[in-house]
Formats: sequence, C-alpha cells, structure tokens
Amino acid sequence: MKALVTYYSETGNTEKLAHAIYDGIEQAKKEILPVRDVTDLDAYDVIFYGFPVQSHSVPAKAREFLKKVPEGKQLALFATHGSLRGGQLAVTAFYDALTVAKQATIIGTFGCQGKVKQQIIDALMQKAEHQAWAMEAQGAMGHPDTADLEDGKDFAAAMIKKARASV
Ligand SMILES: Cc1cc2nc3c(=O)[nH]c(=O)nc-3n(C[C@H](O)[C@H](O)[C@H](O)COP(=O)(O)O)c2cc1C
Repeated sequence: MKALVTYYSETGNTEKLAHAIYDGIEQAKKEILPVRDVTDLDAYDVIFYGFPVQSHSVPAKAREFLKKVPEGKQLALFATHGSLRGGQLAVTAFYDALTVAKQATIIGTFGCQGKVKQQIIDALMQKAEHQAWAMEAQGAMGHPDTADLEDGKDFAAAMIKKARASV
C-alpha cells in the first residue's frame, strides 16, 4: 500500500493539516508533497488531497489536480475553511470537489476550521457573497488546533483501513 498526501495551501493551514494526516498514516509507504511538485500518480494506491475553501468552492489553482487523478483511483479529500466544521458552507466545497474529480473513487472527506487574518475578514464581510462564512470565521482563530490535527490523524488511519480493504 502506497499513499500520497498532497495539498494546495496559501497561508499554511491546509499544509499543517496535511502533515497531521501524513503522521496518521501507518503501515503503508507514504509521501507528502505540495501539489505543484507532484508528477506521477500511478504509483499510489490512495491519494489524500487538501485545499482551502475559497468562495464556497475549490480554489482555481487547486482544481487542475482533481481533474488529473486517474480514473478509479482512491481519493480522500481534506480541507480547511473559515466557516464552522461540518457546516453547510464547508460541505458545499466538498460537493464542488466531488464534481470536479468525478472520475476518481472518493473514499471520504475531512474538514476543519483554519484561521483567517482579521483584515481579510473585515474586508470580505463587506461583500454579500462572503458575509456568512466571514461571520463564522471570527471563531477560527487558533485553528487548526491540536484537536483538529488529532482528528485529521484519525481520519487518515480510517481512510487507509478503507483503502486497504478494497485494493
Ligand atoms: C479569498 C478567500 C476566500 C475564502 N472563502 C471562504 C469560503 O467561502 N468559506 C470558508 O469557509 N472559508 C473561506 N476562506 C477561508 C479559508 O478557507 C481558510 O482561511 C483556510 O484555512 C486557508 O487555508 P490555507 O492557509 O491552507 O490557505 C477564504 C479565504 C480567502 C483568503
């Protein structure tokens, strides 16, 4: 079993979660790479891919990778977002990712809050389409925190178990 953890991250939150996910992978060969450094996907049995939610979606720069995942490849998605964990605003971005990577076999998703700079919250709060998540992001300071990272590790272990069962 060979696993790849890869991510797109602008301010480091998703990168931090990616490292926790990497740490949670046991009894498998594993590699962690920023998405810009990934070349060949065929060598992996399971891929973990992370992105920050932007405008309720997968950011433009993170979309290309999702399209490149080989058909039927097991893909576990993770994200960080300003909005509440498990809330509708964050879930919408996973639906977006599922649509873009429709050729892959999605085995699970995990999301947690990621802090947003106060100036960005203040600026985006002025725009109608950003207001809802920006309100929730006021409580994202300090995230991803230790509990988020522990849950990310548990997610990784569960996904590896699932992937192993179907290889
Ligand atoms: C331009 C912009 C748009 C964003 N849009 C959303 C959004 O729609 N929903 C949300 O929950 N968080 C949103 N966020 C917050 C980010 O998803 C969050 O801060 C994330 O943890 C950043 O991850 P990174 O450090 O890996 O880049 C947005 C942030 C920025 C800068």
